[in-house]
Amino acid sequence: MTQKQTLTVRDNRTGDEYELDITDGAIRASDVGKIGKTEDEAGLAVYDPGFTNTASTRSAVTFIDGDKGILEYRGYPIEQLAESSNFLEVAYLLIYGELPTREQYERWEHEITFHTFVHEDIKTVMRGFRYDAHPMGMLLSSVGALSTFYPEARNITDEQIRHEQIVRLIAKMPTLGAWSFRHAQGKPYVYPDNDLSYAENFLSMLFRMSEPKYEPDPRLTKALEVLFILHADHEQNASANAVRSVGSTQVDPYSAVSAGIAALFGPLHGGANEAVLRMLKRIGSKEKVPAFIEGVKNGDERLMGFGHRVYKNYDPRAKIIKKACDEVFEVTGVNPLLEVAQELEKIALEDDYFVSRKLYPNVDFYSGLIYEALQFPPEMFTVLFAIPRTAGWLAQWIELVDDPEQKIARPKQIYTGGRELDFVPASERWK
Ligand code: CMC
Repeated sequence: MTQKQTLTVRDNRTGDEYELDITDGAIRASDVGKIGKTEDEAGLAVYDPGFTNTASTRSAVTFIDGDKGILEYRGYPIEQLAESSNFLEVAYLLIYGELPTREQYERWEHEITFHTFVHEDIKTVMRGFRYDAHPMGMLLSSVGALSTFYPEARNITDEQIRHEQIVRLIAKMPTLGAWSFRHAQGKPYVYPDNDLSYAENFLSMLFRMSEPKYEPDPRLTKALEVLFILHADHEQNASANAVRSVGSTQVDPYSAVSAGIAALFGPLHGGANEAVLRMLKRIGSKEKVPAFIEGVKNGDERLMGFGHRVYKNYDPRAKIIKKACDEVFEVTGVNPLLEVAQELEKIALEDDYFVSRKLYPNVDFYSGLIYEALQFPPEMFTVLFAIPRTAGWLAQWIELVDDPEQKIARPKQIYTGGRELDFVPASERWK
């Protein structure tokens, strides 16, 4: 006998019963809203700060099983993509839903490569920042500014126009990211070199000085490709949600993506890798790890790079990054903070505080060590996250725009403030 896919709810205030449909393991909040609804009274609402158990969309982009530590893009395991694909192929997969044919890939790579240059006036915009501007602030402003250069982007229903903006965003992010890095160093901005691959070109714009051609170590290029693949999407995380929320107003994709960059900037999201490195430096040596762990357990601080809203197991990306660390350190020499990180991980994974809360290393725990070995200052770490995540944001944005069920994102509130107070003018209140 097939089970009935419904939920029966009895409202004990009235004795009324309601039968709510269950689809894909979820009930509809709008059906809950029918409970207790009368002409004068609003129906029942769902209170869920931080959306801990609220699905905001149906999505076919990324699958995560947090308990088992599984991550798949469009059904393909992250481990296989990191091992055998490259970032541009993964970006295509995320956005268009299928692996590209050879012809599709070549066209895609060509399009991305030839849109890496930005309008010269963007350079002027970037030059206007203070010498010590945080590169994430520069990135989010310059991506927002791109919307003024491509006003046609506001036509989000035209597929060709949409495709052009997707290409521009993916192509220009490394240019903007690299220039925000050079800005802080007072070095001239380096123009893209279209003979190079996506990752090589980024490294060239970051590090090239007077040499006529920049030739990065292929092991470092490969490590960067892997990091880009691992960071490309992560379903409905805070920044994807910001892109969707802002995108739901039907604004252009540059504005929606700059909202994503802003969300990513925070230390509980993409800013965590920067926070991890600062934490490791503050701890300083292996011997000081137990005292630091005690401080975390006493609630004095957080163990940055640990814990995840979704993973209650080892973050699969952290496993791959740990391996990439060894390959990068072969070229750059071992980062001395690795020892501190390994000791933290060892102690935390045995300690009941972390075990009982299912707190494991997340993607940010080891990535900062690689970035530092590659000579990036901590302020650049989140930029290195934002560049590949643009592919995921755009995949989420396209899905939103094409989804007839989506509406402008507008949550409810439970009002807790005063009502119908009589206003007393300042001249009387301050007598
Ligand atoms: N250190 C110490 N305690 C922690 C940590 C941590 N890193 N993370 C969670 N806890 C504790 C928390 O205090 C709470 O304990 P209790 O039940 O006693 O109050 C319990 O574990 C559950 O934590 P929560 O804050 O309710 O969990 P959340 O799902 O709201 O937060 C998180 C997830 C990622 C914000 C949080 O684990 C955290 O702040 N981690 C450190 C920051 C970090 O590494 N962020 C990167 C996330 S992965 C990359 C990305 O997606 O951007």
